[in-house]
Amino acid sequence: MRVRGAILESFRAPFRVGEYEYQVPDDWVEVEVKAVGVCGRDLVVWKGGFRNLRPPLLLGHEVFGYADGEPVGVYPAIVVSEECRRRMDSDPGAVCNVGEALVLGEQLPGGYADRVYVPEWNLVRLPDDDFDKYAAAVCGVATLMHASRAARVAAGDKVLVTGASGGVGIHGVQYLRLIGAEVYAYTRSKERARVLESLGVNAVTSLSFYREAGRVDVVMELVGKYTFNDSMRALRPRGRMVLIGNISGEPVPIERPALLVMRELEIHGSAAFSKKEYEAAVRLVGSGLVKAFYKTFRLDEVNEAYRIVESGEILGRAVLKP
Ligand SMILES: NC(=O)c1ccc[n+]([C@@H]2O[C@H](COP(=O)([O-])OP(=O)(O)OC[C@H]3O[C@@H](n4cnc5c(N)ncnc54)[C@H](OP(=O)(O)O)[C@@H]3O)[C@@H](O)[C@H]2O)c1
Ligand SMILES: [Zn+2]
Repeated sequence: MRVRGAILESFRAPFRVGEYEYQVPDDWVEVEVKAVGVCGRDLVVWKGGFRNLRPPLLLGHEVFGYADGEPVGVYPAIVVSEECRRRMDSDPGAVCNVGEALVLGEQLPGGYADRVYVPEWNLVRLPDDDFDKYAAAVCGVATLMHASRAARVAAGDKVLVTGASGGVGIHGVQYLRLIGAEVYAYTRSKERARVLESLGVNAVTSLSFYREAGRVDVVMELVGKYTFNDSMRALRPRGRMVLIGNISGEPVPIERPALLVMRELEIHGSAAFSKKEYEAAVRLVGSGLVKAFYKTFRLDEVNEAYRIVESGEILGRAVLKP
């Protein structure tokens, strides 16, 4: 198949918009892409942070558009293991292990393009065709849904989210509010703190907030290296930290291992989300219970979108419109 896309030809270099050709199994279906989110994960790929990936690459796993005239979202893990498919059918939170699924925009050409091809199983029907809001919010909501399961978040739990003004954070904190968590949303910006407050969370611009507010039950760590050690100090004894992202891709040394030991803290990883979590996130965004924050760019403005995301000037998601 030949698509028009934004091609990553070498790591950390500008994308080139042009034609990209690749093979597709006969029984896969075509999706006409109308909106695709620029995930923090895409930036890690762009920087060369995923060592198994080699350019040229077509990124983009937050894909929404039309399949056969119907509005759809694309669940981004293309499952290649029957065993994983069975696990997913029986357990709503199950995700595939490495090697059991191929990720759209990583091991398979993704949605920074006018069209994308996937198995029919991966299509999820949308309640409406306001594609931009789904491209902005669904990945973030599904990500925190899965991470909340890992950390056994219950109503009333105090949960700290770092990187809370980003695409995952600002949508994820709304999910945590919906399940009854008391949310502390960390951003470095006072202006964004005000927006976060309007969503019913406690916005904090310093990770020492716990000295007045008390320690938290759970940390959702979206930033990684820059906040990890300070957010760990905010955890109560036997508190849980979920490491969801590490934006710089650099090692994260633990400064005070004694804290981890003496407080018997738990650290979990959270890598993805299940198809059922993705479907539930689509419903929450479709119903308006989660409000989307984003800025749109044409596909040929992709390099400007990356500049803005990298410089931290954006609130929520950059959404590309092929
Ligand atoms: N595991 C999963 O399932 C999964 C899924 C999606 C994404 N991720 C990962 O989650 C992370 C966040 O993704 P995203 O899409 O939300 O990224 P994003 O939209 O780029 O947001 C990142 C946020 O991090 C904050 N930040 C940036 N540099 C910082 C620094 N030096 N110190 C403190 N905070 C800093 C910024 O907040 P302020 O400027 O407001 O402080 C920014 O809003 C990425 O690492 C991504 O790979 C994981
Ligand atoms: Zn994403």
